[in-house]
Amino acid sequence: MADFGGRRQDTVDLRSDTVTRPTDAMREAMARAAVGDDVYGEDPTINQLEAEVAELFGHGAAVFVPSGTMGNLVALRLLCGEGEELLCDADAHIVSYEAGAAAAHGGIQTRTPIVPRGLLSASIIEPQIRIAGYHTVPTSALAVEQTHNRGGGSVYPLDTLRELRALADRHAITMHCDGARIWNAHVATGVTLAEYGALFDTMSVCLSKGLGAPVGSLVLMRDASLAERARDVRHRLGGAMRQAGILAAAGLFAVRSNVKRLADDHARAQRLATAIAEVAPGVTDPAAVETNIVVLDLAKAPVDSAGLARACAADGVLVSGLAPRRVRLVTHLDVDDEGIDRALAVICATLR
Ligand SMILES: Cc1ncc(COP(=O)(O)O)c(C=O)c1O
Repeated sequence: MADFGGRRQDTVDLRSDTVTRPTDAMREAMARAAVGDDVYGEDPTINQLEAEVAELFGHGAAVFVPSGTMGNLVALRLLCGEGEELLCDADAHIVSYEAGAAAAHGGIQTRTPIVPRGLLSASIIEPQIRIAGYHTVPTSALAVEQTHNRGGGSVYPLDTLRELRALADRHAITMHCDGARIWNAHVATGVTLAEYGALFDTMSVCLSKGLGAPVGSLVLMRDASLAERARDVRHRLGGAMRQAGILAAAGLFAVRSNVKRLADDHARAQRLATAIAEVAPGVTDPAAVETNIVVLDLAKAPVDSAGLARACAADGVLVSGLAPRRVRLVTHLDVDDEGIDRALAVICATLR
């Protein structure tokens, strides 16, 4: 069998939606991209991507950055000063997988309530807000993750976000959205990107997750006058790029072509969950699968995460172990119905 990046070419990779490879059409768009030096603001493709995505979310400005991690950090630096506090949930990507960047590079203190499926609410947040005063660490910002990665692709209901926004306004704190997968929330709920955009001071949205671009995120800010500071912070972090229009072209292609098709990923995730729940009741709850992520609870299963991952890998199916008895399956652009059939065959045989 052919080797493909060190793996079988027919591997069904359900570890993450970040593993997609650019399609021929996307590569074509990259090859044809008009470019210039973005540090001089002269890359037409980056300028187009920034303008187009800012408009989709109704924000004043957008700044292209290499990664979602940098996107979150740049946004948080705009909202929180050193020694100030950010409230977010305990499973947020910001505090789970960003190598402590908010603390290390921003001097930002985080306080993190533990909440089911990663979803905060106004009643949980309100008592946590600290006001400025002698010796206190004032709460400057609140961050939500839409959809929530460790929460199993869970979606914040619009009403919950509106209540959080009203709370933030009452207490004069700002609100950031880690919207790495906000596209999935938009497709799952029909809430428009502009409706989401209206709720946040800043957002970070990724092109390299479900949308299938190889690289890139955007920091969005409702107040366009923050863009210059955002570019300064990005530069300081080493994220200012030159002729990166070849990357932005992939992002433009992704935003224009790959949003609606996320519904297919959601349907495939639902198929996975439903079939697994049939042979192994209690391992997953199809009703909790709202987007493209399926979490398996192996507490009572005949194998642990490592055992399931090993059995799957032997059949060319890759899954992600989140904890000793917790596994994650993520559907995306590079997994079709046949891939789901192959994954189900080995997972169901192992869990039966
Ligand atoms: C919710 C969320 N936010 C941010 C990121 C960071 O993106 P990147 O890997 O591009 O830094 C990820 C990555 O998977 C994510 O899932």
